[in-house]
Amino acid sequence: MASFSSLLAMALAISIFLSHSNAQLSSTFYSTTCPNVSSIVSTVIQQALQNDARIGASLIRLHFHDCFVNGCDGSILLDNNGTTIVSEKDAAPNNNSARGFDVVDNIKTAVENACPGVVSCADILALASESAVSLASGPSWNVLLGRRDSRTANQAGANTSIPAPFESLSNITTKFSNVGLNVNDLVALSGAHTFGRAQCRTFSNRLFNFSNTGNPDSHLKHNLLSTLQQVCPQGGSGSTVTNLDPTTPDTFDSSYFSNLQNNRGLLQSDQELFSTSGAATIAIVNSFSANQTAFFQSFVQSMINMGNISPLTGTSGEIRLNCRRPN
Ligand code: HEM
Repeated sequence: MASFSSLLAMALAISIFLSHSNAQLSSTFYSTTCPNVSSIVSTVIQQALQNDARIGASLIRLHFHDCFVNGCDGSILLDNNGTTIVSEKDAAPNNNSARGFDVVDNIKTAVENACPGVVSCADILALASESAVSLASGPSWNVLLGRRDSRTANQAGANTSIPAPFESLSNITTKFSNVGLNVNDLVALSGAHTFGRAQCRTFSNRLFNFSNTGNPDSHLKHNLLSTLQQVCPQGGSGSTVTNLDPTTPDTFDSSYFSNLQNNRGLLQSDQELFSTSGAATIAIVNSFSANQTAFFQSFVQSMINMGNISPLTGTSGEIRLNCRRPN
């Protein structure tokens, strides 16, 4: 029979193995090396918000599009270099759409001035997301930190892993489950569409001849439909933008969910959460609409879940000095 000490050694070995195979992020990761990182990030975002009310929304979207491709490793921030880096910025979901890279650069500069070579670009996106939400009157939370930056990008992965607004609920659910996120995470995180903008090309398929019916999407409230038809006329510019949340466009609140109940979701993928008959998402939409505190609690937990997708930790990856290129 194994002795007590050999059992103990075995248990220790297993726990070391587990801690390495599932490296943990921590809210105190920079508490000695860059104690003010969170307020530095927030200050730069507050400045940027003065001239651009949607910048917070744009930054949280960058974190989402980062995490869904090779994990939260800052890969979305890398520029094309003509050889080794084929940028995710040029992938279909990001091209002429993802924005805020100049503000990420400004945050990185401010953080490097205070704590050179310490804070990763991947963590900057996670911190910026929290600041963006809390500055828009949403919840605050302790961001888990300690991610490191990739040396590569994955443009093909960005094309396949990031959901499109024209996809079915079941496809989108699969894309979330591929990165370990469940239906509750899907509904809670979709609540980020409570702020920010979308271009006509992302929803104009709903306005005139939806799915070749010859009619607009029947799950689009008439007065919103008329407004959107004027904003995005047939043959007009696909890049005109309008508010994702027509009710409270720049505030982080639960009105996204009451909009869905009233057929006022902007993207097809938004409205599907409530209008797909028999879907498990309907009850979750109803509960978040009825109880903003429940939405905020779930949103925070789901942001933590999303932020935990395959981070590089320990000695993997690097701390990029410039978020746009590997060191
Ligand atoms: C569930 C699947 C999702 C789909 C299909 C989707 C799709 C889109 C689309 C098409 C846009 C407009 C882009 C443009 O017009 O340039 C957009 C904007 C946005 N998305 Fe999502 N999204 C999803 C989930 C998420 C998640 C999980 C988050 C964050 C947690 C998020 C945050 C945002 C924000 C804040 C904006 C506005 C960005 C801005 O104003 O610059 N989205 N999304």
